[in-house]
Amino acid sequence: MSRFASVALTVTSVLLALTACGGGVQGTPGGSGVRDPYFPKAGNGGYDVTHYALDLAYDPDDRRLAGTAEITARASQDLSAFDLDLKGMDVERVTVEGERARWSRNGQELVVRPHDDLDKGETFRLTVRYSGTPQTITDPDGSKEGWLPDGDGALALGEPTGSMAWFPGNHHPSDKASYDLAVTVPEGLEAVSNGELTNRATSGGRTTFRWHTAEPMASYLATLAVGDYDISRSTFTGAAGGELPVYTAVAPSQKGPARAVLARIPEVMEWAEYNFGPYPFSSTGAIVARVNSSKYALETQSRPFFPGAPGIELLVHEIAHQWFGNSVTPKSWRDMWLNEGFATYAEWLWEEDDGGDSAQETFDALYDHGEDEHKDLWDFPPAEPAGAEQISAAPVYQRGAMVIHKIRQTVGDDAFYDIVQGWAADHRHGNADTGDFTAYVEEKAPDEDFGPIWRDWLYGDGKPDKA
Ligand code: TRP
Ligand code: ZN
Repeated sequence: MSRFASVALTVTSVLLALTACGGGVQGTPGGSGVRDPYFPKAGNGGYDVTHYALDLAYDPDDRRLAGTAEITARASQDLSAFDLDLKGMDVERVTVEGERARWSRNGQELVVRPHDDLDKGETFRLTVRYSGTPQTITDPDGSKEGWLPDGDGALALGEPTGSMAWFPGNHHPSDKASYDLAVTVPEGLEAVSNGELTNRATSGGRTTFRWHTAEPMASYLATLAVGDYDISRSTFTGAAGGELPVYTAVAPSQKGPARAVLARIPEVMEWAEYNFGPYPFSSTGAIVARVNSSKYALETQSRPFFPGAPGIELLVHEIAHQWFGNSVTPKSWRDMWLNEGFATYAEWLWEEDDGGDSAQETFDALYDHGEDEHKDLWDFPPAEPAGAEQISAAPVYQRGAMVIHKIRQTVGDDAFYDIVQGWAADHRHGNADTGDFTAYVEEKAPDEDFGPIWRDWLYGDGKPDKA
């Protein structure tokens, strides 16, 4: 092409662009994912959500959920269109900045074309009105998440991709936001979510619960439990001196088995604050649903979820996640070991402090015969899960905890606890990845050589040498 021809083409496309959008800068579509190595469609490009205001109504009889999601977001580029993640449900209306927007569906992507382009840096308000029967999602490892009908009610559990079953959003851990959730359910049922209950009002046979989460929350940590629950409220005085509400919801069948362990929440919170630093959220508690309502527990923010009364170790694990996972959140699903390695190591520390095996003994037993219990323990390195179906496998949990223990062995207890607390403080309410972590550890202990630990324990294939 001659130089002249290429200039002429450029002029033509500029003219076309000017015609298309009435003279402004032309935006481009935001992109259907954020290139997560394991979940490429999770999250969306081109904007950041700052707040979700969800106004939902659920009728357990016909399992219908209807609601409006009002999302406040900031454009990170000039946008002609952008996606939300929403799987299933019928979309009825979408507005952007108060004006009707065009939209279409493509798998889990809800593609929104605002009436006017959005400018880079602009904060905008989006509403999506939707309804339907929310789906239960089966994730790559076969576990069930999303919306789980349960007895007279339902449970919403999000890790890793379940949240798109019950509200449209930017469903990737890298985009955290504050939340207001209003849920209307038939009178007589409870509705329990994250954060603080700010209001509860009944009229015409229906009760509306309003829950508020001020601190940033990744959407996989948002939860909702609707059903018959026994509610207990108390307070906990945190290390910082303030009083936090403790709100627990227990399925009637679990009242007996759960009583003693839930009574230990303040003790576990104090222990965790002593070891990890100030608690990062403004309330605490637990949701104990019926046994087998789900196959797993989840560290839902400020109010962990348990399918049946947990043992003390599991309670410690989910409370430790409030620091590791919920406050310091992975940048992508590849960094999962930063959640599970720490939460598992917290169990080892608890046991050590409680007069059981020392963390060293737990480490040694795993090293010597861990394969008996966890066949896949040496299958892949913690920092590089072999696939999306492996993000909750033993190398992420147990071998991840072994990495943390190797650091403690290297630096000694004083420096170790400084590192753990400093890490939680530095990235409080933020996101971090494995590279951020290894750089942080190296910076705090500049005289040590962590190279072999990273190489063999964090990134290396196969069982490392013990030394
Ligand atoms: N994070 C949960 C815990 O450790 C376990 C879990 C539930 C999980 N669902 C998951 C882990 C999906 C990975 C993916 O208590
Ligand atoms: Zn965990």
